Amino acid sequence: MALKAKMIVDKDFKIADVDERIYGSFIEHLGRAVYGGVYEPDHPQADENGFRQDVMELVKEINVPIIRYPGGNMVSAYNWEDGVGPKSERPKRLELAWRTIETNQVGTNEFVDWSKKVNAEVMMAVNLGTRGIDAARNFIEYCNHPGGTYWSDLRRQHGYEQPHNIKTWCLGNEMDGPWQVGHKTAEEYGRLALETAKAMKLVDDRIELVACGSSNTDMPTFPQWEATTLEHTYDAVDYISLHQYYGNRDDDTANYLARTMDLDHFIHTVISTCDYIKAKKRSKKTINLSFDEWNVWYHSNEADRRIEPWSVAPPQLEDVYNFEDALLVGSILMTFLRHADRVKMACMAQLVNVIAPIMTENGGAAWKQTIFYPYAHVSAYGRGTSLQPVVSSPKYDSKAFTDVPYLDTAVVYDEEKEEVTIFALNRHLSEDLSLQCDVRSFEGYGIREHIVLEHEDLKAVNTAQEQRVQPHTKGKSTIRDGVIEAVLPQASWHVIRLAKHA
Ligand code: AHR
Repeated sequence: MALKAKMIVDKDFKIADVDERIYGSFIEHLGRAVYGGVYEPDHPQADENGFRQDVMELVKEINVPIIRYPGGNMVSAYNWEDGVGPKSERPKRLELAWRTIETNQVGTNEFVDWSKKVNAEVMMAVNLGTRGIDAARNFIEYCNHPGGTYWSDLRRQHGYEQPHNIKTWCLGNEMDGPWQVGHKTAEEYGRLALETAKAMKLVDDRIELVACGSSNTDMPTFPQWEATTLEHTYDAVDYISLHQYYGNRDDDTANYLARTMDLDHFIHTVISTCDYIKAKKRSKKTINLSFDEWNVWYHSNEADRRIEPWSVAPPQLEDVYNFEDALLVGSILMTFLRHADRVKMACMAQLVNVIAPIMTENGGAAWKQTIFYPYAHVSAYGRGTSLQPVVSSPKYDSKAFTDVPYLDTAVVYDEEKEEVTIFALNRHLSEDLSLQCDVRSFEGYGIREHIVLEHEDLKAVNTAQEQRVQPHTKGKSTIRDGVIEAVLPQASWHVIRLAKHA
């Protein structure tokens, strides 16, 4: 019997407006993300500031609204002052998180310049590992105060007359992790985060702050860490962070593609924890979620163990992604869409070379990894209102999950453009899924395009020489009397675009 799924999509079944910042990303001073990725002054494609234009073009293709910077683990021992002022006077430092040499040839001002060129806002992180309130309040004065004070005038001397007006700030990074320089208990972190938040908001009360949540769901302190942190910081912060990476080390794709069941549970747990503290505090304020590190990360683990310490920009965390990774990335993005009411920011970690959708060769090409495509698709067509589809799908059990629907889906309605997009994944590894989708509330809509990402080899990868995995627009779907009939081949990713006057 053929595999069949049904869904109903109605314009009144609204979850929430999608905050476009869920299509954010992350650049850390790690490996070749900055040096050799974003910045390579000797590259033939470098612009007048040393930024690679080929990389900027690819970033713009994804349309990334916000980029977290400068770390990551790196920020916990970072002196922001090292990265500003004349480049020739900037110190070289031991970078402790990744055990490399940091030349500081790129710092805050260069990164703000680069972000403008790719049309992104900066989400800035402060060091709450080795430093604290004083460095953070000076840093925000340097970035956001117009002038007439020590730090703001220093920025002006450095050639930046206008303040950067950075709106979103992270209070440290993964402070629950014992690997973090300056790791803290939840009590220690909660106190420090609160006092830092107060000082930063005194300098600039327009900012939004993200408190550190747990580094992943396996942390022994999860979710008590979130509860304790929010007990301290609830009134002073706006978001709590979530981080999660997935891998397929035991090569069980059915289980791997079900990992978003775990992601869904993670998001539910953090929402419940935020709302528990809200209730305890009798607060009217709601804390939202910033999922500011997520991706697949495991392919490069072995190679990273062989890298010698203390070199400049070594090839660290250079995962080469395969086709099944792209399927999981699509599923992760759909999970965020279904939580659009509380997940307001999310950052794919990272953007260039380091566990990234964009890869480069030093002095050579830049290309799209497999995961580039679902990320670019959802960023392009996932803006508007997230709708709650009513889904009926056959299910399977995998090693770690039960009742996993073969059909994974999310729907976004752009009322202004009169467009509806159905994102869908067929998790079945050997059978097509016939999908019947009732869209009768969208009168007069037709199918504009049906994009598909599929490949017969789940392990197929893209390289500088060959793009083996890339989408096509020959998806099989028809619409009659407001009902779509589509065929989703085994293990495939779909973007079915409807428009009023298609
Ligand atoms: O993105 C790579 C690393 O993963 C980040 O530096 C850290 O925050 C996380 O553990």
